Amino acid sequence: MPSYPEVMRIGVLTGGGDCPGLNAVIRAAVLEGTRVHGFEFVGFRDGWKGPVEGLTMELTAERVQNILPLGGTILGSSRTNPVKMDGGVEAIRSTMSDLGVDALLAIGGEDTLGVATHLSDQGIKVVGAPKTIDNDLSATDYTFGFNTAVQVAVDACDRLATTGASHHRAMIVEVMGRHAGWIALHTGMAASAHVTLVPEQPYDIDEVAKTVASVLHRGEAPLIVISEGATPAGGDVTHTGADLDAFGHVQLKGAGEQLERALVERLPDLPTRVTVLGHLLRGGTPTAYDRILGTRSGLSAVRAIAEGNFGTMAALRGTEVDQVPFADATARLKTVPPARLAEIAQVSG
Ligand code: F6P
Repeated sequence: MPSYPEVMRIGVLTGGGDCPGLNAVIRAAVLEGTRVHGFEFVGFRDGWKGPVEGLTMELTAERVQNILPLGGTILGSSRTNPVKMDGGVEAIRSTMSDLGVDALLAIGGEDTLGVATHLSDQGIKVVGAPKTIDNDLSATDYTFGFNTAVQVAVDACDRLATTGASHHRAMIVEVMGRHAGWIALHTGMAASAHVTLVPEQPYDIDEVAKTVASVLHRGEAPLIVISEGATPAGGDVTHTGADLDAFGHVQLKGAGEQLERALVERLPDLPTRVTVLGHLLRGGTPTAYDRILGTRSGLSAVRAIAEGNFGTMAALRGTEVDQVPFADATARLKTVPPARLAEIAQVSG
């Protein structure tokens, strides 16, 4: 067991897009850390902006006790990227030293953990907990928030399907998923969508139109689930045109509408409606599954700190939550493999 200052102080932050289950991680980390290991905690506000600018909040067992069912993050979040800022890493180092913070717990996705990896390489003690509703982090079977997002999307599809059936319309449902189509895949399968379109496989609009026509022909209302990052073959993602964020991402917008236009060109009499679920998928209370996964991720991350196992992230492998090196999680995105696309094709159309 490594030797530490008498009372170890841990700084906690949540970065990137919020997602249900973040508060479960914070709560479990603080409860286990204070009760079992005698740690003290400092909450950093608004992602990496917190340690860069010294923005803090009190984080005690009393403060976190009742936050488990809350959506969002009590710490706030941002897409601040200290690695791209002049003196960003040094500012974090000096905030930690001023506040007597010995180690960081960074709760976030690819971008936040990419920064954590960089800090770890610079000798800062940091552990991670993986967060993304997109479920696109490698080395972990699922990320918390994903289950809630899929449940919200499936509930929405079930409702939209009854309206589609009543009005004999094609219902297009756009869900989040920038580079990976996990939310669309699981939603499409659970909601028995006729067509599911994901970023991993550019779609052939003529094939989609053929499927839609055959669904209509047999008297059903087509239900189409599309990821925000899905593209037509030979086409590109649709976006707002706003400036890239600090991690170089465009703000996606319009995949469902682009699909609608192309479909109506081929099937001019087709009544269609597009529903963009967007941020509805990220808000609100987590499912029981995500509360448990978030809690177990927080416990694992704090145990890693107690054991001096820095530069690692909590990861779900089967039924166990273990620590894996940052590099395993951030080296590449976990996208939907062809075998899963073949599975959904069997039960679609
Ligand atoms: O965090 C991932 C994600 O939800 C993506 O699915 C989506 O494209 C993006 O964040 C939206 O980000 P913002 O909340 O900044 O609009």
